[in-house]
This record gives sequence, structure tokens and C-alpha cells, in this order.
Amino acid sequence: MLKVWIAGANGQIGRALNDVLDPMQIETLNTDLDELDITDTDEVINFGSINRPDVIINCTGITDTDECEKNPEHAYRVNALGARNLSIVARKCGAKIVQLSTDDVFDGKSKKPYTEFDDTNPLTVYGRSKRAGENYVKEFTHKHFIIRSNWVYGKGGHNFVNRVLETAEKVRHFPLLLISLDHRPVPRIWQE
Ligand SMILES: NC(=O)c1ccc[n+]([C@@H]2O[C@H](COP(=O)([O-])OP(=O)(O)OC[C@H]3O[C@@H](n4cnc5c(N)ncnc54)[C@H](OP(=O)(O)O)[C@@H]3O)[C@@H](O)[C@H]2O)c1
Repeated sequence: MLKVWIAGANGQIGRALNDVLDPMQIETLNTDLDELDITDTDEVINFGSINRPDVIINCTGITDTDECEKNPEHAYRVNALGARNLSIVARKCGAKIVQLSTDDVFDGKSKKPYTEFDDTNPLTVYGRSKRAGENYVKEFTHKHFIIRSNWVYGKGGHNFVNRVLETAEKVRHFPLLLISLDHRPVPRIWQE
């Protein structure tokens, strides 16, 4: 049976993945900060060597962009060194790794939708730390998938849709809800 390690399993995407992975077909190893700190290189390698996953999905992250600006060292430790630690395990076990990254690796100045061949130019600590994570993953194993997503939403997470719903609930006696858009997400689907 395929063994999938979801690191950051209690987060928004980690929980959503658990909802869709069929336990009859896939053995899931779930970890989060309380049991395995992704920045602890020895512990991560130890966990990987004992459990030998076939696939690692890195759903960990410091995703609060303001928090990243306030504490860049912590952001880099989790978003970059955490990804490095997981890719060391992937290389040792011959596992595939899925690295959840972000469109914040780009500066957003292009008039066209970005492709994977465009140069990166992150403007924030979050974006720079995630790009550093991508680079580690690429350096340590060629068996990788890097997903540069944005505006993911789902049940119970801190996301745009839930924020709009909460705000709408609070201001429901006003006829109009003003939303400031400093991002223009362009959802795309690639098929190879
Ligand atoms: N949501 C989006 O729109 C979006 C867009 C693009 C990319 N991504 C990427 O997708 C990934 C998951 O996003 P998400 O929205 O699911 O984030 P999330 O809800 O914040 O989940 C992140 C999880 O990582 C855990 N974590 C933090 N530091 C850790 C550490 N040192 N060791 C182990 N686990 C740790 C968090 O635990 P605590 O809660 O206890 O801190 C949390 O459970 C992130 O890498 C993010 O950069 C997300």
C-alpha cells in the first residue's frame, strides 16, 4: 500500500488532503508541530528513516505574511529549512516530495499569467522564504513537484472566502461590502 506522509496535517490543506485520501488505498502518516517539528533535522530524518514514506507532502508553513515580516528567522526556519529537511528524507528513501509553494515567489508585475519558466522575484519575507524552500527541494531530489498556488480555501481555515463570510456576517446591515484587492489571482490548471 502506498505510504503518504502529510507534514502539517492539522493545517487547512493537510486536513483537506486527509478528507480525500482513501484509507483503504493509501496509508497516511500525519504529523504536525506538536509531534514533529519540521525544523528539527535529526528528528525529521529519524522519523523518515523509520517510516520510509513513498510520498511526502509538505503542508507545513508559516503562512501569515505579517508574522513572516516580523520574524523572518522563524519564517526561514520553517518555510525553507523545513522543506530542506523533508527533501533530505525524500532523497534517502527514494520518495517523491510535493512542496506547496506560492505565487508570492513572483513580484506580480507581469501583465501575463506566470508560467514555471518565468523568473522569480519575491517581494516579501514569506515569498523569499518559500522560494528558498523550493530551491532546497530542487537541490536535494529530482523526484519533486512544486505547486505555486494561491488563495486556497476550504473548511475552517484562515482564508479569503472565510474572511469575507465573517465580515459579511458582522456588517450584514450594510448594503455593500467593500473588499480591497491588491492581488489578482489567476487560477490555472496544467496538464502534461
Ligand atoms: N492557503 C493558501 O492559500 C496557500 C497558498 C499558497 C501556498 N500555500 C502553502 O501551502 C502550505 C499549507 O498551507 P495552509 O493554508 O494549509 O497553512 P496552515 O493552515 O497555516 O497550516 C500549516 C501547518 O503547518 C504547521 N507548522 C507550522 N510550523 C511547523 C513546524 N515547525 N513543524 C511542523 N509543522 C508546523 C502549523 O501548525 P500550527 O498551526 O500549530 O502552527 C499548521 O498546522 C504552506 O506551505 C503554504 O505556504 C498555501
